[in-house]
Amino acid sequence: MEVVVTPDPGEVAADAIAGHVRPGAVLGLATGSSPLPVYAALLRRRDAGAISFDGVRAFTLDEYLELPRSHPQSYHSVIRREFTDAAGIEVDGPDGEAHDVPAEAERYEAAIAAAGGIDVQLLGIGVDGHLGFNEPGSSLASRTRTKTLTPQTRADNARFFASPDEVPVHVLTQGLGTILEARHLVLVATGASKASAVAAAVEGPVSAFCPASVLQLHPHVTVVLDEDAASQLRLLDYYRFTAANKPDWQPW
Ligand code: GLP
Repeated sequence: MEVVVTPDPGEVAADAIAGHVRPGAVLGLATGSSPLPVYAALLRRRDAGAISFDGVRAFTLDEYLELPRSHPQSYHSVIRREFTDAAGIEVDGPDGEAHDVPAEAERYEAAIAAAGGIDVQLLGIGVDGHLGFNEPGSSLASRTRTKTLTPQTRADNARFFASPDEVPVHVLTQGLGTILEARHLVLVATGASKASAVAAAVEGPVSAFCPASVLQLHPHVTVVLDEDAASQLRLLDYYRFTAANKPDWQPW
């Protein structure tokens, strides 16, 4: 696991992702606020001619159930508005309107596999350590399935809705086992509210109680943090020293 503390997490995460962008690449995209500077940085690079999204496909992590796809806060709408429409990238996601939710979960797993798997998966982290919508207690081997949101996550996400009651209770999310199959994981976290979850994920025991601790089982993870999100890491000085001495030849 490579931990990078930087004043500009969006640019560093965009560096890590840009290295995978080529025709045929499959990107794993995340919603929430944390990835937005990454998408902005990737679009700037495309506009500058440094990368091209031609022939790139994408999959999202999760989706609300009990919310029409056309709702502005469905992740179907959010990812198109925030990134893929501007990038011209074809994107698939779990269908929150599916009548047969288990069948939709199977379809989604099969679609990712048929695309050849995900080359690089961008991730945020919930204040309770969730990845995608894998809440505490999620099996570390889980596959795409429905989950019930915690009151904490519903409260955190209420800012996107007119009232807290509007936040759906159920979701469809890639499992932790699904996420682990992406070839490179890039987690972005900013702000003091994420510091405790980041410390538990990076330095705590691997435990379903902190779903993001499953990252410790993956051979290629880049964790990109601002100072506030990094503030509870015990090995912070070591991560800084490692980053300052990163060999020129070593890619993200
Ligand atoms: C939601 C998403 C997660 C995201 C989390 C944190 O619950 N399902 O994928 O990581 O929010 O979001 P933010 O980056 O806005 O703090």
